[in-house]
Amino acid sequence: MIVAIDGPSGTGKSSTSKAVAAQLGLSYLDTGAQYRAITWWMLNNGVDVADPDAIAAAAGKPSIVSGTDPLAPAISADGVDASGPIRTPEVTAAVSAVSAVPEVRERITDLQRTIAAEARGGIVVEGRDIGTTVLPDADLKVFLTASAEARAARRNGELKSADGKPAADLAATQQALAARDKADSSRKTSPLKKADDAVEVDTTELTLEQVVECVVTLVEKAA
Ligand code: C5P
Repeated sequence: MIVAIDGPSGTGKSSTSKAVAAQLGLSYLDTGAQYRAITWWMLNNGVDVADPDAIAAAAGKPSIVSGTDPLAPAISADGVDASGPIRTPEVTAAVSAVSAVPEVRERITDLQRTIAAEARGGIVVEGRDIGTTVLPDADLKVFLTASAEARAARRNGELKSADGKPAADLAATQQALAARDKADSSRKTSPLKKADDAVEVDTTELTLEQVVECVVTLVEKAA
C-alpha cells in the first residue's frame, strides 16, 4: 500500500500523514524534511544557495538518511541529526531555491523511490510531487488544500515562541507561505501540482481528526 499525500504548506500534510501511517501500521516519509536537510547541509558548508550551478555541483555530496517511523521521524545529513535545524527560518527561506535545482530533485527522488520500494507493509509519503512524479503508481493519491488564512493561522500556531505567544505576525506568515507556494508551483522541474487522479480534500473547516478519518477511509477503500 503506497499512499501519496501532496499539497502546499500549512494544509496539515505532516500531521495527517503521520497519524494515518501510525493508525494503519504503515511507514512514513517526510520528503520536505529531505529537501530541508540538503538545504541545511549546503548552508553549513558554504554553498551559495543563490547560485543554481553551485547547488547543482553540491547536490551529490551529503548523505541524507531518513527514518520511516511515524512516531519518531528522523533525518540526518552526513551523519548529523538535522531534525531541529531543518525547521529554522534560514532553511525555510532557502529550501525552495535549492529544491528547484534538477540535480537536487533527481538525487532526492531516487532516495524516495528506494525508501518506498523497501518499505515492508506499505508507506505514506508526503510532499509536493509524490503523486505526479515520484510515485505515479501510488495506490492512493490525496491532495490537501486549505484557505490561505487557515494555513497561516496553523503555521503561526506551530511557531509559538517559548512564552506561548505567536512568533510571527499572521500577515507576514501568510505572505511567506504564498511566496514559497508560488516558487514551488512555478518551478520547471516537478512543480507542486495535484495529480489528475488524486482525491482533493479541503481541510479549511476540518479538524485534524476529521482529516485523518477521511484519509484512513480512502486508504481502506483503495486496499
Ligand atoms: O513540506 P515542507 O514545508 O517541509 O517542504 C519544504 C520545501 O521542500 C517545500 O517548500 C519545497 O520547496 C520542497 N519540497 C519539494 N518537493 C517535495 C517536498 C518538499 O520541492 N516533494
